[in-house]
Amino acid sequence: MERKIVSPCVMIIFGGTGDLTHRKLIPALYNLFYEGNLPDSFAVVGVGRKDKNASEYKHELQASLEKYSRYKIKPEVWEQFSKKIQYYKMEITVSEHYEGLKVFLNEMDETLGTQGNRLYYLSVAPSFFEMITKNLAQYKMAENVDSWQRLIIEKPFGHNLETANYLNTEISKVFPQENIFRIDHYLGKEMLQNMLVIRFGNALFESFWNSRYIENIQITSSETVGVENRADYYEASGALRDMLQNHMLQLLALVAMEPPAAIDAKSIRDEKIKFLRTLSKNNAEIIKGNIVRGQYGEGKMGSKPALAYRSENGISPKSNTETFIAAKLIAGNFRWGNMPFYLRTGKRMKQKTTKVVIEFKSLPEILYFKEYNGMQPNLLEIRIQPSEGVSFSFNAKRPGTQNGITNVMMDFCQNCSLENNSPEAYERLIADALKNDQTLFTSWDEIEASWSFIDNIANIWRQEQPQFPNYAPDTYGPSDSDVLLTNNGHKWWNT
Ligand code: BG6
Repeated sequence: MERKIVSPCVMIIFGGTGDLTHRKLIPALYNLFYEGNLPDSFAVVGVGRKDKNASEYKHELQASLEKYSRYKIKPEVWEQFSKKIQYYKMEITVSEHYEGLKVFLNEMDETLGTQGNRLYYLSVAPSFFEMITKNLAQYKMAENVDSWQRLIIEKPFGHNLETANYLNTEISKVFPQENIFRIDHYLGKEMLQNMLVIRFGNALFESFWNSRYIENIQITSSETVGVENRADYYEASGALRDMLQNHMLQLLALVAMEPPAAIDAKSIRDEKIKFLRTLSKNNAEIIKGNIVRGQYGEGKMGSKPALAYRSENGISPKSNTETFIAAKLIAGNFRWGNMPFYLRTGKRMKQKTTKVVIEFKSLPEILYFKEYNGMQPNLLEIRIQPSEGVSFSFNAKRPGTQNGITNVMMDFCQNCSLENNSPEAYERLIADALKNDQTLFTSWDEIEASWSFIDNIANIWRQEQPQFPNYAPDTYGPSDSDVLLTNNGHKWWNT
């Protein structure tokens, strides 16, 4: 049952002038406010090092809202919402500045009735995560005395298992696990939440959801953009750490996990962790032949020239950072046996799309499967974005006097009609953090399991120099990614 957000609070965004705040966080808060989903006593404080007053800050945010908000800005709504916004200038690296912040927040409690409740949002470079939490502890800004203090932390959570472990240990000295909300914004996407409903709310799907009926499962998250203005971050992470370690493995876990005992955070997380741990079956030997990495070269996106990754602003001309990864993974558990899961993600690809394609097994080669060319296996396609929906394709007789067969499709489109304007991922996630619901946030155990798997791949890659660049922009990635599937008699369904 939907719980209402009742707790008053102040949300403090470290990185209050940053890109994420402008593009995602403030639009998410505005939309929550618009729908009446923020507590009455609520304020958001953008923390930044730039010199500006609250009204300048609001002015900048308003301009971003015009661009990025899901709901069009209504002057009367903005007027009310903007009263909730404050700006606080400080250096997050200077410990003494936290004292001033504390006084500022306490004063807000007095005027707004926010009761000492705090939602700290770390929208800063990961190198500041530990420092900020330690400073909050030093000034007793993270203590649960008659109030609550929660921490939302953006990815990446560590660079590998060792650094993630260290970060987790340090942060949990300040915030108990139940107050740490680790964001994976994919979990806030409507269709990822829908995945569990589709799987466990339909007898037909659940009965066939195993390797006896399914030939393979393909998960694609491709982007048309390149590295954009994130050279430093991306050079150190690449597609492996930027997408596979988090979004892709989370999506895979939701597709492949066992039914949870209940629809609550603990039960769902328990099943995801169990599944993620099965990935350890993909040991070094197996991984070697089953992972393809790529980097885009120079070319064109449509008719426009596109730079090679190595020529992008801030990128080393000798960079070996991967902008594409494809993997064939085996879960090896009772449900999935040796059935392959194919995953791929990359930048500068042909389409912006995130989708899951379930390819069902073909029937024996008798009757129609023997007599007609072009029979296609049944495909269930779950589209996460930009189009949201589910389609199922099957074979049917082509109307007419000839006995032709054609492939037809049943399609459900979730965001085709204007009334169905799905909330942005960050809306759902911020609302859940305010409600203290951890279901759509990643637990430490999940992070630990996914890093151990990702570390294996990184270690293997370290031993070999890749031949980069190896794919052209506006394509589906390197040809080796196709070979990964054709070796098994499969192909990517590039619909
Ligand atoms: C982010 C990655 O987590 O996800 C980006 O850091 C990527 O590199 C982005 O572009 C993709 O998100 P979405 O929601 O556009 O699929």
